[in-house]
Amino acid sequence: MGQLSSLHHFLFLLFLFSLCWGQRTNQDTGRPSCNRCDRRLSCDCSRGGFTRVPMVTDRALTLDLSFNNITEVTDVDLTGHEQLRALSLHGNRLVVIDPSAFNSLWSLEELDLSDNQLTALDPRWFSKLGALQQLNLLNNPYSCIGSAPVFDGLVRLRRLAFGGPALREIQRGALSGVSQLEELTVHANNLTRYESGALAYVWPLGRVTLSLHGPFLTDRALASSVLADVSYPETPMVLEDLYLIGNESVKPFYETAKRRVRYITFRNLFISDETIVRLLVVVNGVPVISFIVDNVTLTGEGRWERANWTDHRAVDEFVVRNVVVLDVFKFVSFLQLQFLLQYPRKVSVINSKAFVLPCPTSSLLMNLQYFDLSDNLLTDMTLTETLCNGNGTLKDLRVLNVSGNALKSLSTVSRLVTKLRKLTHLDISRTDYSFMPQSCPWPSTLRHLNISGAKLTTVTPCLPTTLEVLDLSNNDLKDFTVALPSLRELHLSGNKFLRLPPGNLFLNLQALTIQSNTLNMFDRSDLQSYKRLSNLQAGQNKFVCSCDFVAFLQSTIKGDGDVQLTDGEESYVCDSPLYLQGEQVGQVHLSVVVCHRVLFVSVSCGVALFVGVLLCILLWRLHAFWYIKMTWAWLKAKHSSRRRQRLRDDPSSDALLTFDAFVSYSERDATWVENFLVPELEEPSEAGENSMNPRPLRPLTLCLHKRDFLPGQWIVDNIMSAMERSRRTVFILSENFVQSDWCRYELDFSHFWLFDGDAGGDPAILILLEPLSKDDIPKRFCKLRKLMSSTTYLEWPQEEERREEFWRSLRNSLRGGEEDD
Ligand SMILES: *[C@@H]1O[C@H](CO)[C@@H](O)[C@H](O)[C@H]1NC(C)=O
Ligand SMILES: *[C@@H]1O[C@H](CO)[C@@H](O)[C@H](O)[C@H]1NC(C)=O
Ligand SMILES: *[C@@H]1O[C@H](CO)[C@@H](O)[C@H](O)[C@H]1NC(C)=O
Ligand SMILES: *[C@@H]1O[C@H](CO)[C@@H](O)[C@H](O)[C@H]1NC(C)=O
Ligand SMILES: *[C@@H]1O[C@H](CO)[C@@H](O)[C@H](O)[C@H]1NC(C)=O
Ligand SMILES: *[C@@H]1O[C@H](CO)[C@@H](O)[C@H](O)[C@H]1NC(C)=O
Ligand SMILES: *[C@@H]1O[C@H](CO)[C@@H](O)[C@H](O)[C@H]1NC(C)=O
Ligand SMILES: *[C@@H]1O[C@H](CO)[C@@H](O)[C@H](O)[C@H]1NC(C)=O
Repeated sequence: MGQLSSLHHFLFLLFLFSLCWGQRTNQDTGRPSCNRCDRRLSCDCSRGGFTRVPMVTDRALTLDLSFNNITEVTDVDLTGHEQLRALSLHGNRLVVIDPSAFNSLWSLEELDLSDNQLTALDPRWFSKLGALQQLNLLNNPYSCIGSAPVFDGLVRLRRLAFGGPALREIQRGALSGVSQLEELTVHANNLTRYESGALAYVWPLGRVTLSLHGPFLTDRALASSVLADVSYPETPMVLEDLYLIGNESVKPFYETAKRRVRYITFRNLFISDETIVRLLVVVNGVPVISFIVDNVTLTGEGRWERANWTDHRAVDEFVVRNVVVLDVFKFVSFLQLQFLLQYPRKVSVINSKAFVLPCPTSSLLMNLQYFDLSDNLLTDMTLTETLCNGNGTLKDLRVLNVSGNALKSLSTVSRLVTKLRKLTHLDISRTDYSFMPQSCPWPSTLRHLNISGAKLTTVTPCLPTTLEVLDLSNNDLKDFTVALPSLRELHLSGNKFLRLPPGNLFLNLQALTIQSNTLNMFDRSDLQSYKRLSNLQAGQNKFVCSCDFVAFLQSTIKGDGDVQLTDGEESYVCDSPLYLQGEQVGQVHLSVVVCHRVLFVSVSCGVALFVGVLLCILLWRLHAFWYIKMTWAWLKAKHSSRRRQRLRDDPSSDALLTFDAFVSYSERDATWVENFLVPELEEPSEAGENSMNPRPLRPLTLCLHKRDFLPGQWIVDNIMSAMERSRRTVFILSENFVQSDWCRYELDFSHFWLFDGDAGGDPAILILLEPLSKDDIPKRFCKLRKLMSSTTYLEWPQEEERREEFWRSLRNSLRGGEEDD
């Protein structure tokens, strides 16, 4: 009962545990705990529904508590976490953090408190975080920063982010204690007060990101003084969420122009063509090198040529990504933009629904070396126009990227680039190429070709032999038959390769990526066919974990051989056999039984055979078969004996005792029995002349197996029933008897009969035909030996004169029972 209830208890606990996966309630403190830590002690407790900081192992190195409902960090929640390097509380509902909550986090390098409900920043939180390098305080409802020196003790701080929709004021002391930063991010879209110099004096400053939506719209003086404090020529500036319409809106850029900021990025920009002209005017003559616009909405007619007198000769890189043109049909041509387009060496127009760049406009891009038109709406036809039908405009072009366009004909693109005499990189990935022609013209300079994510099913000699890097990932390839002697890097992931392509095609190959195919295995000789391969990534395949493969891969993981598996051993997982499915090949241990099956089977068969033979010999030596046979016979006989017993219990059973004696003898002693015993006992000669017995001798009835056994019945049954129906059993002992199994049965049954013992007296009579000592009888006939020592036996005298006496004794013994009855 006690066991049962404790089992119930256990099941109940199990049930509770399954209810809150990864979250157990700690009895002592009521705090939940989280066990989602990996081998590198990185604990991912995000999205666990925690309302308090859960208990996590003290040894944790990183702890991710993002997207829970934690409202408070108490002074004890994080004690003991001296090793913790990174802590994220992003996306909780933190309102309260105890002043000493982070005091034990001496090793903390990254702290993320963004997207919470902290209404004020307490300098005491960070006072002990001397190792902190990265701090994110974005999007909390504190409205002022700098009233207290929050970051004073953070001497190692390199990345700092603060601000949010509620931030209204930045006071002078905001960055006190911060001397240099790699990255500064300030979200100040609703900023209304800024004390000049608050963000100044941080140098070196790697990169600054400012969201200044409100100030740019309403308080440009404030925006100007913010920009003035963080503008340095070498500091890339990212400006977010700007709405730039009208001449006035670009006024703050006079500050960046004055400080000759050279790298400007706009993110989430709304701008009109008129404002662009103003902006171009403002930065006229400033050596702006890089101009990047990510996510921009454009209005107007594109009349930028009004700034055609401005000077932008420094512009080297021009990138627009995610452009939405509101009045796309009103847009005038770019032809007047030569003043802008002639300078840059890198131009990217990415994901902007561009469907063509007319040849005359392309021709304006005189310095162009890098041209990225990925993720647009180009077709073979418009690409032909963009590249001026392949007549070699864009003569300096080294890199062309038309990835992610609706291109279909590989021979077209090959023809279009043939005359680009300097082209080294061509990215035609994520296109609709499904057919590779037998031969294609290419510029002899082409080294890198990316046709990943197309629909190719075969490769042909169309591939240029000059290639050093070839990416054919994510196609439908099954094999590779083209020799590319210069190739250093080959990417074939996401295809349908069943085996590694033959290494002799790639005499120079150093890196091969062939993940996520249908490779079953590979071996040393496969790898050795690659003369110079040093770097292989072949994970996520359907590996058949045979012994050879497992052994080979484990040795490769250990670093034997020249090839390194650089995609981590955890990506090599067995697919079959079934019982190994999902296990890492590196962790699999195959037993000798599996690995050397033939050897194992033959050895074990041999051993089994040997043991079997040995056992047989042993059993034979110990006469075990005889014992078994006996036992079985005995059991069977016992069974039938019981049946007969029931019969005998019948009142009329006396009639069953039909013999005076059952004679048990060896066949070889039959002559004696027939010539002497039977005549003497069954037909006694009229009482020997010298008989002292007055009455005639009563003939005795003997049971002889030869004569009296029922034919057709089982011999043992016969013997049993003969014995049961006889008063006595006479054993004729001789060498022959001892050697005859037949007799052994009889002896044994008689013996069992004896011990079952309902025949009173001494039912066994032993006659020794020849002198036979107890020691002549084999040891296993222990019954007979016992019988010989317990029962007096009659010896058949060799001398005639003593035989009379022998018969008399025998008759007396046989009759004895009668008298006893
Ligand atoms: C946080 O609590 C709110 C309701 O209070 C609930 O809707 C939300 O799903 C919870 N978040 C998590 C991550 O459990
Ligand atoms: C901050 O500015 C946004 C517009 O950028 C406005 O919708 C929001 O209400 C402002 N938030 C506060 C707290 O003033
Ligand atoms: C903007 O400035 C340009 C040149 O200074 C002027 O022609 C234009 O009218 C101005 N636009 C507005 C809306 O003030
Ligand atoms: C793109 O910018 C617009 C505002 O100009 C903003 O609403 C949108 O969320 C931005 N999209 C992304 C992906 O940043
Ligand atoms: C700028 O364009 C105007 C016409 O819009 C033209 O008259 C003028 O010559 C051009 N100036 C330069 C420097 O190209
Ligand atoms: C290519 O053709 C375009 C027009 O089709 C022409 O303007 C340009 O000069 C030509 N370039 C070369 C190098 O032939
Ligand atoms: C081409 O553009 C795609 C998508 O923007 C990018 O992944 C790839 O790296 C680019 N290729 C080159 C050679 O720059
Ligand atoms: C090939 O292009 C794909 C998709 O644009 C990109 O992910 C991959 O990195 C490129 N391959 C190489 C070797 O640059």
